[in-house]
Amino acid sequence: MKTVSTVPDLRSAVASYREKGQRVAFVPTMGALHAGHLALVEQARRAAGKVVVSIFVNPKQFGPGEDFERYPRDLAADAEKLREAGADLLFAPAVDVMYPPGFSTTVHVAGVSEGMEGARRPGHFDGVATVVARLLGLVLPDVAVFGQKDAQQCAVVMRLVADLGLPVEVLVAPTVRESDGLAMSSRNAYLSPEERKAAPALFRALLATQLVHELGERKAEKLLAAFRLAIGTELRLELDSADLVDAATMRPVEKVDRPVLLAAAVRAGRTRLIDNVVFGG
Ligand code: PAJ
Repeated sequence: MKTVSTVPDLRSAVASYREKGQRVAFVPTMGALHAGHLALVEQARRAAGKVVVSIFVNPKQFGPGEDFERYPRDLAADAEKLREAGADLLFAPAVDVMYPPGFSTTVHVAGVSEGMEGARRPGHFDGVATVVARLLGLVLPDVAVFGQKDAQQCAVVMRLVADLGLPVEVLVAPTVRESDGLAMSSRNAYLSPEERKAAPALFRALLATQLVHELGERKAEKLLAAFRLAIGTELRLELDSADLVDAATMRPVEKVDRPVLLAAAVRAGRTRLIDNVVFGG
């Protein structure tokens, strides 16, 4: 696996793949890689002959008071994991490579970015859309792979790609979990042992709510109440938000008469955890 950090080196490596007639799949990440990221690399390998991964902790998508400074960074360990996973090229740019002097563009995807995480983390999805648009422009992949764990991010990226007519196929990979159900996340590293023990209650509460749906409940209000009740039994987690939205538009629904996304965020101490399930339709 080759590692590059500049735009010319990235472009010439990708150009050499193209000259050989190979398709290119791309997995953007912020590093601190875990099995969830590596599953995306695996899916990318199945989709194309060459796999490009980026590692860039994107300052534009962190709000004031969020964890940009303390976000875990370990490029050497990440590169080793990517090599083992069979990635071909790692793009690890510095901030001034991604945002050179004079950089002035913000990509705002209206609609799908406005509720849920977008409402609670102002500017977050502008930061995501801006960096993803630039990364796609730099790499020019045939396929880009994103994780269902960040369901609203997937919706934002799909809208962005459709609206700008970018010639890239967006694939969404299922959420990879620890054996106790906790969705893998780079932020799980912040959890104390006690918080770590409590954390799987988030997924359990999502599953319990899905079961309530399977038993026949269709009203969003009732399903959200069931979720709140379930999460309330884990006193070490504080509920931040729970939303039941149309899985495609991310708009709140009143009843489950189509595929919906139940997405929730909780706080375990200082750490914010998100997860979701899709059901209905
Ligand atoms: P990051 O949080 O590093 O995640 C990179 C990719 O891995 C995203 O598509 C995310 O949804 C996926 N991912 C994370 N945890 C996962 C899990 N447990 N199972 C499956 N996939 C998982 O998301 C970002 O970075 C950034 O916003 C980025 C898209 C790179 C733009 O900066």
